[in-house]
Amino acid sequence: MADHSHLRGRRVLLIVSGGIAAYKTPELVRRLRERGCAVRCVLTDGGARFVTPLALQAVSEDTVYRDLWDLTDESEMGHIQLSRQADVLLVAPASANILAKMAHGLADDLASTVLLATDKPVLAAPAMNVRMYDHPATQANLATLAGRGVVLVGPNDGVMACGEYGPGRMSEPLELVDALADFFAARAARAPQATAPAPLAGRHALVTSGPTHEPIDPVRYIANRSSGKQGHAVAAALAELGARVTLVTGPVALPDPSGVETIKVETAAEMLAACRRALPADIVVAAAAVADWRVAEEAPRKLKKDGGPLPPLRLAENPDILATLATAGPDRPELVIGFAAETTDLVAYARAKLARKGCDWIVANDVSPATGTFGGDSNTVHLIRRDGGEEAWPPLPKAEVARRLARAVAARFAPAVPADPAAGTDTVQPGIPA
Ligand code: CTP
Repeated sequence: MADHSHLRGRRVLLIVSGGIAAYKTPELVRRLRERGCAVRCVLTDGGARFVTPLALQAVSEDTVYRDLWDLTDESEMGHIQLSRQADVLLVAPASANILAKMAHGLADDLASTVLLATDKPVLAAPAMNVRMYDHPATQANLATLAGRGVVLVGPNDGVMACGEYGPGRMSEPLELVDALADFFAARAARAPQATAPAPLAGRHALVTSGPTHEPIDPVRYIANRSSGKQGHAVAAALAELGARVTLVTGPVALPDPSGVETIKVETAAEMLAACRRALPADIVVAAAAVADWRVAEEAPRKLKKDGGPLPPLRLAENPDILATLATAGPDRPELVIGFAAETTDLVAYARAKLARKGCDWIVANDVSPATGTFGGDSNTVHLIRRDGGEEAWPPLPKAEVARRLARAVAARFAPAVPADPAAGTDTVQPGIPA
């Protein structure tokens, strides 16, 4: 029995091509999600004959991608981005046709284009009529793909939809779940062993950072002074301790932190949508200075001065991203951390904010102009925990605040082990640098 713990927090891009076995894919998606995977689906035209996009959308709770050319609105997502936001691609069922396209590098629809453009590992579950499977062309394609490192799962022997018996049935959903778990386990075993295990390895952290820009018209927007320095530093510090980090950032003038998947957005609504897509996560750190309001109706054209009355700016409240992510439910991340930017009564306001937003910890920082926190390189914070614990940290560079916070997160997740089991209460956290 495969060790399914290797599936927690993995992002699977499931490519469903045209074969009767496509009807099993909603079940496959459910099984993967039960084990902590996020699953996003790409459906070919052939696949859509056997399973509806709606079924896959309902079980994956994500957009189902079908068209190479239809990059509109919320669902906008290029083939490169689809691959970039996945840890693994699973082609199931893999028809003789898509295997042939993969072997020969054809890219004439979204699925084949993603497969050609990806640098992520690919698993494929062949499923087809036994004669198609046995055909030398298919066998040669399979050999080519295996030679390039594509992991082939199945097919099984059995009676097929066409009535014939032999190899060609797609592996069952649970066999595919096992195959994915085995794949990640083998990869973990091959990875060079660090002297101490990274304390946040296997954890997925979602971090928001920077300001949001709320458009007034095509050239103007409402914004704030957030630089993103603190949020970006937190993302980097969590990655340093081994977490897989997704950083969702508003517009900032900072380089993307290395080893972190960075998703760039402008508005609060885009930030919330990107965060939702990045779930499931174990840890959320909401460091973004999200604009509380947006302009209710963005003007389609640049507003002009015409000597008349000033144009009214009607505002609408933005969604609260932190409160949304902290809402109880099966997908609620285990540890949700907010920031509280205050200019007076720091701790009292921050504690009230912690309760109001339903988060577990809040990092309270004084952003009154005299402190130079907004845009500056240092920060003076209090870490306040829901259980009542409170720490006042000295003024520190933002990178150091981030490292301390990451260590506190790691300590929260790592089981404490006695430094000397015989000696009593002293504890150490394995792998957490002081
Ligand atoms: N936050 C959020 N979405 C919003 C507003 C805030 O996720 N629409 C998050 C911030 O990222 C931060 C926390 O909520 O982690 C507190 O943000 P802050 O600006 O201090 O508080 P507000 O919610 O704006 O409350 P107030 O304006 O009353 O200070």
